[in-house]
Amino acid sequence: MRMNIALVGLMGTGKTTVAQILAARLTLPAVDLDALIEAREGMAITEIFQRRGEAYFRDIEARIVEEQSRRGGKIIACGGGVVLRPENLVHLRRQGVIVCLQARPEVILERTRGSSQRPLLNVPDPLETIRQLQQARQAYYAQADYTVDTSDSCPDRVVDAILQWCRERGDEQA
Ligand code: S3P
Repeated sequence: MRMNIALVGLMGTGKTTVAQILAARLTLPAVDLDALIEAREGMAITEIFQRRGEAYFRDIEARIVEEQSRRGGKIIACGGGVVLRPENLVHLRRQGVIVCLQARPEVILERTRGSSQRPLLNVPDPLETIRQLQQARQAYYAQADYTVDTSDSCPDRVVDAILQWCRERGDEQA
């Protein structure tokens, strides 16, 4: 059975880029949950937060996680807050493994600087917010099956590490 590999982690840890490369290396499709949410709502994430609020966004996110978890065989780039609802992790594990990408707050700041598409970081002191989010979500991210620090690695090396881990756990698709 082909599994899903779900990438979780804070904004700016490299989930979308790593998902694309991982998918290409495994010849599997990649799906980006934020992009699916935007397509379904016909609005950018920032607009959804502004017009409907975060709780509404989390409901749509949970619904899409459940839908995408029904079948294996793809790479799923999740939004950073997907871990906040325990049922999302249950669904993602049903046909898959969960890999967490992490990075130092300063690196995340650098990577997300200038992005208007991260409503949670559109604040006067984004570095402080990144630190707070990291602390608040640490226990959730720790539930991942495997974690890679991307601070000092290029995306290809991160993918190498994930594939190595997959092979070690006997995953034949890697
Ligand atoms: C969020 C992360 C974003 C997006 C939304 C909320 C979060 O995704 O889902 O802005 O709560 O951390 P990325 O991690 O892909 O930027």
